Amino acid sequence: MAVSIFGRLFRSTRSICAPITSIICFALLLTFLFILYQPTVGPGSRIQRIGWQSWETIGEATPTVLQNPLPIDPGSISSNATGNIPPEVDWWDVDEATDNLDSVSASLPLDVWAPLLPHDTGLTEIAIAHCFIPASMTEVCNPDTTPEDDAIKGTWVRVERDINKKSGIWYLYLYYRRSRRLDVPLISDIRLLSNGDESELPRGETWKKVPTSIRDGVLGSKSLFLWYKLGPALRDLSQSDRSNLITELDILFGESRPWPGFEKIETPIVPSKPPRIDPVWLTYRRGVKPVPKAKPLHFSHNGTFKVMQIADLHYSTSEGKCRDTDHTPCKNGDTETQSLLSKMLDTDKPDFIVFTGDQLNGQGTSWDARSVIAKFALEVTDRKIPWAAIFGNHDDEVDMNRADQMKLLQALPYSLASAGPSNVSGVGNYVLKVYSADASKTQLLTLYMVDSHAYSKGVIDWFGIFKPTEYDWLKPSQIQWFLDESAAINPILRPFQPDQGRDLGGVWTKRQGAPPAEDEAQRLAKPNGMMFFHIPIPESYLSPDIDPITNKPLDVGSDYDEDGSAKKNGGFFEKALMQAMESDDSQIPEVKIVGNGHSHVTDNCRRVAGIWLCFGGGGSYSGYGRVGFDRRFRYFDISDYGETIRTYKRTESGEVVDDMILAGKGAPPFTGSVEQ
Ligand SMILES: *[C@@H]1O[C@H](CO)[C@@H](O)[C@H](O)[C@H]1NC(C)=O
Ligand SMILES: *[C@@H]1O[C@H](CO)[C@@H](O)[C@H](O)[C@H]1NC(C)=O
Ligand SMILES: *[C@@H]1O[C@H](CO)[C@@H](O)[C@H](O)[C@H]1NC(C)=O
Repeated sequence: MAVSIFGRLFRSTRSICAPITSIICFALLLTFLFILYQPTVGPGSRIQRIGWQSWETIGEATPTVLQNPLPIDPGSISSNATGNIPPEVDWWDVDEATDNLDSVSASLPLDVWAPLLPHDTGLTEIAIAHCFIPASMTEVCNPDTTPEDDAIKGTWVRVERDINKKSGIWYLYLYYRRSRRLDVPLISDIRLLSNGDESELPRGETWKKVPTSIRDGVLGSKSLFLWYKLGPALRDLSQSDRSNLITELDILFGESRPWPGFEKIETPIVPSKPPRIDPVWLTYRRGVKPVPKAKPLHFSHNGTFKVMQIADLHYSTSEGKCRDTDHTPCKNGDTETQSLLSKMLDTDKPDFIVFTGDQLNGQGTSWDARSVIAKFALEVTDRKIPWAAIFGNHDDEVDMNRADQMKLLQALPYSLASAGPSNVSGVGNYVLKVYSADASKTQLLTLYMVDSHAYSKGVIDWFGIFKPTEYDWLKPSQIQWFLDESAAINPILRPFQPDQGRDLGGVWTKRQGAPPAEDEAQRLAKPNGMMFFHIPIPESYLSPDIDPITNKPLDVGSDYDEDGSAKKNGGFFEKALMQAMESDDSQIPEVKIVGNGHSHVTDNCRRVAGIWLCFGGGGSYSGYGRVGFDRRFRYFDISDYGETIRTYKRTESGEVVDDMILAGKGAPPFTGSVEQ
């Protein structure tokens, strides 16, 4: 009797088991929706949704980075780099050593998906396989293979992109094999075809069909199959055919352009159905397309350098929504912002762009960081303008951590972004130096980029989930890093007098300094510094300095947002900015201006203890804003070889507002005596 009761109990437990799993899942979902995914007040008392990141574990595989760059063949270095440069060629146009791509590619690993690497090795086979768990945790979903196939065609490489990320009922991955063997046929073309469309394939060629549909797991969609053309083996290919081989595959989400160097197959894997379903595309690279690099930053010959700050783009994987604007029509926030940016760039022609964080919207909508990073800088890179970026609090909120995003940022054209030292808190603490145009290549301006992190409470802190979100602060290691970097900068003779060696026919003799104009004696001091980070420091809200001439507070612009700084003050202003002076015997801080983003309807510049604390003002229709407060971008127009820093903002209507001089001749005087 007892046995049969237990037996029945056991059977009923078994039948209950599956429902229990779904109940647990449902409970987790509820916990997520109502507790973790709490709408919280962001800067400016607007409701912002934060959360998600602890639930999205699907990230980029860490691409293998070449640890030891190959030794450069001395013969490949242009003799012009060291020898006689014609006088009309500027120093930044002199080619540096050219990398030998062939030898780089020969040393790249064949068994990991690393689409940023310049791999020119051809593919031999493609497969598609689904998985019930994220495949990064397991190999069990890999397609079948044999040791012979592994040896001849190469081992399976998983493209670490879940094709079904948003649309399917299970995970779906592309796999390929690649081989350096000379005798295996390589893939030279790919197509996506529905059943019955095979007749479109050119006759007389070898086309293979991947048996699993690339829409496997997307309910209610017609099957779509990947076909690939197996061409001749490497030994039978001409050089131009080799550079036309398919060398990499990737998946693109949304309507953005493919990653640089990639092309997309025009048949979507998942067609777009606005506003709910974003399209999914298969993209591929032929050969290796080196990404154009930025030239070293430099002033013009007449001593000008113009910086544009692009703050808080808040782009999404889809085309984004317009928020808080009376701009009409405004269909898609991201697309509309791109066209505003393109007008700005063509009007103001900046020499350098700094993206000051929140390029990605987070908040659930930038769910494929890679696809959003592929598009946010397009207007800038299409114009070949060098740029840098730092992170805001939203960039890594949904998908992909800061370190992996930084690798992508660095791989974009004309990027000067950098992760910075690993022993300094955050990702993206780095220094950019701007040099003179003359052959003396003197550093005339220092740009410090600092990572202001994201949240200290409310998102990751599980024990603090019932407290409101708090922003993170700048850490002691960042203070130390800044002081070290600042101490390492060599003083120059200021105001700088350009070397006129060029007029002497290419002989680089440094002129013994032009006699300084009567009113400006030269002094030895560090060049002016500017610093950018996303979240403002609490000092941005202190009472401003008083202009000794006009007796008015030095605070220009609007501050509709409430205090957006961290509640905790890490002491960055006192212990870092106020400690680094232009020179040992000077009371004038080296960093004249701090540029922040974060607060979209605050765009003021306020001078506190001699340092201008400026906000960019929101420029994106996709970020929150305020009807009646036009979208805008801030510029820093630097002249007199770095001495004079002027700032202004241009609004979406094209108007220039709050034009003023922050440093140099015409700026409100600051002698170093702080009366607070
Ligand atoms: C050096 O520059 C000259 C003139 O620009 C050019 O003709 C020559 O090919 C260059 N030499 C090398 C080795 O690049
Ligand atoms: C300085 O040079 C820039 C670009 O080289 C040019 O646009 C600008 O008009 C020049 N300014 C003066 C005052 O010559
Ligand atoms: C980081 O490491 C470098 C090199 O070891 C060292 O010089 C520097 O002081 C360290 N910085 C901090 C903030 O610990």
